[in-house]
Amino acid sequence: MKSNALADIHGRSFITPRPWSEAEFDELLLKDSTFLISSENSFLLGMLTDYEAEILTLAVDPMKRRLGIAKKMLDEFEDRCLEKKINKIILEVAKNNNPALKLYESCNFEITGKRRDYYSSPEGKKIDAIIMTKSI
Ligand SMILES: CC(C)(COP(=O)(O)OP(=O)(O)OC[C@H]1O[C@@H](n2cnc3c(N)ncnc32)[C@H](O)[C@@H]1OP(=O)(O)O)[C@@H](O)C(=O)NCCC(=O)NCCS
Repeated sequence: MKSNALADIHGRSFITPRPWSEAEFDELLLKDSTFLISSENSFLLGMLTDYEAEILTLAVDPMKRRLGIAKKMLDEFEDRCLEKKINKIILEVAKNNNPALKLYESCNFEITGKRRDYYSSPEGKKIDAIIMTKSI
């Protein structure tokens, strides 16, 4: 999937954090550590280091939700981490993002921290980030 398609799905999926531009996706995709799983309607962008993996963002087209697509991408990401002998995945999610929190809980991620006032809504309201971790 190319940067314009990533920016399109991201733009239809996020208000907080704000949507990322095509140029921002271009820049991320140039990095060796960036890892992309994508299909026509969804993508997961991760970052792999020698020791752990981070999910940078994950989105499914609004018309294709609740079909198990995000869970399938998380399973695939986990498999790719294990192949590279990485056994810890971390991510940040806005405290008010109930669908994402439910998704990660259902995939056995655990809450391991909180960053107070980490995100800003378009109206300037501060929202905490929840840090979730999974040992695999
Ligand atoms: C969060 C998101 C990625 C989930 O994608 P999805 O493909 O619809 O999720 P799945 O169908 O794989 O759901 C798997 C499980 O997660 C939970 N879940 C997912 N969406 C949910 C919702 N809206 N409400 C409650 N639980 C939900 C359920 O347990 C679900 O299993 P079930 O459908 O059998 O009950 C999608 O809603 C999205 O793109 N949201 C906007 C972007 C975003 O918030 N990304 C995460 C950033 S950290």
